[in-house]
Amino acid sequence: MYLIKCVVAARQEHVINNGVEEVEGEGVTFLLLVAIGGFQRWHAAGTFDVQSKTGGPFGTIKNPQELAHVANNGLDIAVRLLEPIKEQFPILSYADFYQLAGVVAVEITGGPEILFHPGRPDKTESPPEGRLPDAKKGSDHLREVFYRMGLSDKDIVALSGAHTLGMCHKERSGYQGAWTNNPLIFDNSYFRELLTGDKEGFIQLPSDKALLEDVAFRPYVEKYAQDEEAFFADYAEAHLKLSELGFADEV
Ligand code: HEM
Repeated sequence: MYLIKCVVAARQEHVINNGVEEVEGEGVTFLLLVAIGGFQRWHAAGTFDVQSKTGGPFGTIKNPQELAHVANNGLDIAVRLLEPIKEQFPILSYADFYQLAGVVAVEITGGPEILFHPGRPDKTESPPEGRLPDAKKGSDHLREVFYRMGLSDKDIVALSGAHTLGMCHKERSGYQGAWTNNPLIFDNSYFRELLTGDKEGFIQLPSDKALLEDVAFRPYVEKYAQDEEAFFADYAEAHLKLSELGFADEV
């Protein structure tokens, strides 16, 4: 498995390096594209509904109708750039491949090592639109969405720390800017920035600020800002859960 991860990372680098010219106009670098891979992996898994057992990380994110969901604006770029890499690994399902891309994105940008178990089947039916969180909303909404997946308060805060990578694009979400001063590095700076409050040049979404305002969420923000090791451990655990929603029970 380690070998596959290395190969995926190497292929990703090759394709994205060769694709930089195409995307340079948008100011997107190789690593940022890897971050998009991570983002995509979360949007693939985050549609899971623990009650009906529908949605989840089963490769449907590449369906045109799911890419057309408002929350997936811009993900068609990641799907397109990952496609030539996927072709090299016919043995992997799309479902496994997208999750693996997310694991690789976190690891090669400096984040924790995350367990990866292959075997997800590709499903054909996309979940309905509206299952992913709305950045304009607060903690009640975050709980509604993440509890529906079967995740906890701790998972919500730890996973939000993935905003250490990447940035918002006005034309996609209506928001613009990165959360940290190095959006290509996976570290605990998202939580440190969050605690320092609004600053010119940085973004804090209403859903990020909700983590500060909620009495159950805030202690995790403070802990992760002080203790990167604790953040990495909880992030790796939450990421594994997210990536196996609807799949872990079957293996
Ligand atoms: C807690 C609820 C969340 C909300 C409301 C939210 C919302 C958003 C929004 C609005 C963007 C900007 C999209 C754009 O303009 O391109 C974004 C970007 C991003 N999100 Fe989240 N997100 C959430 C949780 C997560 C989670 C759980 C992960 C991963 C585990 C994640 C990873 C990312 C990454 C890596 C980007 C950057 C993408 C890029 O650079 O193009 N987010 N998120």
